[in-house]
Amino acid sequence: MDVLNKKSVEDIDVAGKRVLVRCDFNVKMENGVITSDKRIVASLPTIEYLINHNARVILCSHLGRPKGEFNPEFSLAPVAVRLSELLGREVKMAKDVVGESAKELAANLKDGEVMLLENVRFHKEETKNDPEFSKALASLAEIYVNDAFGSAHRAHSSTTGVADYLPAVCGFLIQKEIAFIGGALANPKRPLVAILGGAKVSDKIGVITNLLDKVDTLIVGGGMAYTFMKSLGYSIGTSICEDDRVEDAKKMMEDAKAKGVKFLIPVDNKVGKEYKPDTEAMVVDSDNLPDGWMGLDIGPKTQALFCDAVKDAGTVIWNGPMGVSEWDNFASGTIAVAKAVAESGAISIIGGGDSAAAVQKLGFADKMSHISTGGGASLEFLEGKDLPGIVALNDKD
Ligand code: 3PG
Repeated sequence: MDVLNKKSVEDIDVAGKRVLVRCDFNVKMENGVITSDKRIVASLPTIEYLINHNARVILCSHLGRPKGEFNPEFSLAPVAVRLSELLGREVKMAKDVVGESAKELAANLKDGEVMLLENVRFHKEETKNDPEFSKALASLAEIYVNDAFGSAHRAHSSTTGVADYLPAVCGFLIQKEIAFIGGALANPKRPLVAILGGAKVSDKIGVITNLLDKVDTLIVGGGMAYTFMKSLGYSIGTSICEDDRVEDAKKMMEDAKAKGVKFLIPVDNKVGKEYKPDTEAMVVDSDNLPDGWMGLDIGPKTQALFCDAVKDAGTVIWNGPMGVSEWDNFASGTIAVAKAVAESGAISIIGGGDSAAAVQKLGFADKMSHISTGGGASLEFLEGKDLPGIVALNDKD
């Protein structure tokens, strides 16, 4: 998938035109209050470009999974407020998606004005990519811009369907994401080191399989490492393990060896008695994990091993924490790796979701080259899959 071959907002005349922009404003909220506005901030370059080029900007997005009906809990109204603050201008909020309110606001927009439609998932047709709904959305505008990298792996009306009815181009966020992640995969500065963590091997099998043909070193930490340890015959106590993936884990390590890829898993672990933040804890080697204890973080020898592998990297791709990083007692592995990545001088690319949140919370965000706004989308991209939201856009002539 070559985004360089896709038309962008710069390849089309937007002046005086109504432009429907699909953003990913699926932000974290608690009781109607936005707790992270990173995705809103990431959408600003495209929106500001359109404003400065006199477009009439109609923004749309999903928020959460409201099951196809209106639910005030999932209203995008707080996003319109935050966006108005960030842009320093009013963002008019429609009361619906393709109803009277949306149509009227869209028809009356003036050059350089901005409005936001309600949550596209208030219509069940959205996730079904229903052609009539796509057509209704498209009828609000004359040009479609997709800048929702975080939703580019979804083939929904607002991410792909509308492209059947309007000239369709990408925004700057999608371009940036693909340039960083795609560049690291296609033409990396070597050595290329991938660090994968998180709880489940099953979520990452596609990623590991794809990366084994590209990386020089693959590091596995976090909960998923225990399935790999079990495949080597180690006792893993009560650590998280996907028994139906043990054979896959073994095969991945054998494949790595055959391909000449260095494959690192933890040599020691910080284990706890129970799955709770203040549980009794100790450090043990991976071949000496006692019954009744569970691995909750990588140990100090593993930190040194992983950090050493990262030190001279040209490019690092990291997705998934090394332990239960939201608990102070089990965050030191993730902190050590984040620090090593930040200090390595490598091009550093952090997958969205948990790893992005961990890097931000631990204070290393501004040291990384790129923190993806996509969780599922960045994983599917790392798996080597085409993303429907990008495939649907017009190719350059
Ligand atoms: C995400 O947060 O990963 C995207 O916004 C996609 O959300 P979804 O998994 O509900 O489609």
